[in-house]
Amino acid sequence: MEHKFYLIIPPGMEPIALKELKEKWPLHFPSIPFPQVDVSLGGIELESTLEIGLSLNYILKIPGRILYRLDSFKCRDFPKLFNKLKKMPWNNYLLGQIPNIKSSSKKSRLFDSRKIEKTVEDALKAYYRGQPPKKKSLEKIDRAPEMSIYLRFEADFCSLAIDTSGQRLHKRGKKTHVGVAPLRENLAAGLVYFFKLNTPGINHLIDPMCGSGTFLIEARDFYKINKDRDFAFEYFPFFKGLEKPCDSEKILFTNFSGMDHDPKIIEAAQNNCLEISFTVEDLFSGESDLVGPGVIFNPPYGKRIKLEKKLEDMATRAKEKFSAKVVGILVPESIPFSLRPKKELSFSNGGINVKFYLL
Ligand SMILES: C[S@@+](CC[C@H](N)C(=O)[O-])C[C@H]1O[C@@H](n2cnc3c(N)ncnc32)[C@H](O)[C@@H]1O
Repeated sequence: MEHKFYLIIPPGMEPIALKELKEKWPLHFPSIPFPQVDVSLGGIELESTLEIGLSLNYILKIPGRILYRLDSFKCRDFPKLFNKLKKMPWNNYLLGQIPNIKSSSKKSRLFDSRKIEKTVEDALKAYYRGQPPKKKSLEKIDRAPEMSIYLRFEADFCSLAIDTSGQRLHKRGKKTHVGVAPLRENLAAGLVYFFKLNTPGINHLIDPMCGSGTFLIEARDFYKINKDRDFAFEYFPFFKGLEKPCDSEKILFTNFSGMDHDPKIIEAAQNNCLEISFTVEDLFSGESDLVGPGVIFNPPYGKRIKLEKKLEDMATRAKEKFSAKVVGILVPESIPFSLRPKKELSFSNGGINVKFYLL
């Protein structure tokens, strides 16, 4: 039976997230044809078996969450919403708790999110009164990840989904040390993938302002599965276990080097990943004997870290210092950038509109 899943994608990264899905699908499900997908701003919808849809949590690096569609129905008033939700088989998905309730509404009679959320809560309470959750489920509540249900109203149609991920997917479960302004792991994964797809010949990746090492760690792990954390679906009472997919043999790059002028941050990066070489080095001092690597970095800017040099000078210096074939630099849209890129990608980094340029 086919089920509907909705991958939440950072707005702007939909095309690159679709490429990831298309490339990884045959690696993990070689006998299953690639499904029809519907790409919209901030998401990709697809139909698949339950097992595949849930497994995408293990496989994909760019989505922020994966939602599982439970139902969709016409709904123009609160009593109907209440009755519909009271009849859903919640004990299959929830452990007896009231989950986070997220709602959005477009061109619909039901639009007041507080009232929608209250109706859902009341319906769930009424459901639990009629069908109390099993003791086995209740015992798991404390250790289970946060559970959330999503209601999206569009033209009086309600689409009801449950989050299968739990913590957002950029939480990989392993990285323990963070720098001052770390980039979310799923955004970094999207950028290293974009970088590689546009510069296929480059095998050595350098981040000269590496902070906690996010770009390099994501580049190294792009084809590995997310196995160091748990997911909400693993706690759904109806979930009977699933064979975890294996790491793919593929790699994006063969060599990685990270540098930062802050020794404390380098120590943190090295603690995050022992297999990558991280060194204390200022971009503007010394020379390098490397030839032809790719450079990727997000220089300090904006509120959290003060900009001391022009972004163009940083990009030019990185290109010259490492004799880099390509430099990928992430800059805020609000700061003018005068160098002409070969390629660019615009997206939102935690609410700040940014551009990733390949120079
Ligand atoms: C925005 S953070 C990078 C965050 C990193 N991508 C991450 O996800 O953790 C910028 C980093 O540049 C470093 N930095 C600033 N100026 C530098 C310079 N001249 N040479 C080397 N590193 C520098 C800072 O110490 C900081 O860690």
